[in-house]
Amino acid sequence: MSEQSGKQGSKLGLYLAMGVGATAIGFSIAAIPFLTPALRTHALPYVPATTKQIENVFKAVKGYSLEKSLTKKAPSKTNVVRLIDLGSGDGRIVFDAAERGYHATGVELNTMLYLYSKFKTFTAWKNKSGLFRPVFKRADFWKVNMTQYDLIVVFGVQGMMKDLASKLKEEMKPDCLIVSCRFPISSYKSVFRLEDELDGVWIYDKESLDNLVEEEKKSESKPIDEDDDDD
Ligand SMILES: C[S@@+](CC[C@H](N)C(=O)[O-])C[C@H]1O[C@@H](n2cnc3c(N)ncnc32)[C@H](O)[C@@H]1O
Repeated sequence: MSEQSGKQGSKLGLYLAMGVGATAIGFSIAAIPFLTPALRTHALPYVPATTKQIENVFKAVKGYSLEKSLTKKAPSKTNVVRLIDLGSGDGRIVFDAAERGYHATGVELNTMLYLYSKFKTFTAWKNKSGLFRPVFKRADFWKVNMTQYDLIVVFGVQGMMKDLASKLKEEMKPDCLIVSCRFPISSYKSVFRLEDELDGVWIYDKESLDNLVEEEKKSESKPIDEDDDDD
């Protein structure tokens, strides 16, 4: 091998190494928003809802509305129904809701997922006259005020649901409904449920969360049973 071709070969190796290094750094940076949720008080990773799960959200809202003769949760020309998805991921629930006529908002902390949803709104959401354009906010849903929403959708994790219920109970409108995907809000009694293995959905209204707090108060004020004494 000549000296020149040896030099060219080592240059190519250097460029290759630089390319691999840059790609690895790029992937690491892109992965940061997906890994940091694990460090938060309530770790909520990105797990997208299945098509069945999304169908079940709206099936449950319809089922409960029919059962209670509620008309306010069905969007129409004269009835604007504001929905928010807490932790909207790639925006799939928000887009589906907007297609169904809801005034739908997604709140997402992960910058990549937020940007993806915004991008999709600009590219895929065209010529949808008569429908509300989906809204996406890059924000921490624990800091978002919920007073303006009629439907709050959340696909959370079991461990955060009770704290979330305390926040929502304080902020939600009297006729607002919470739709919880996959996990019920433990020890709270839902007003409607659609069981479907991992795609199950539970609905709570403000009153059901008020009742729960009352139950908790009762158990907190309950005197300690003397029989529990081990001595
Ligand atoms: C289980 S995924 C659900 C995604 C989407 N709702 C769906 O059903 O396809 C939860 C999402 O919440 C986001 N998230 C976690 N903590 C958050 C927070 N405090 N504020 C806003 N979004 C959050 C995560 O980045 C993730 O995209």
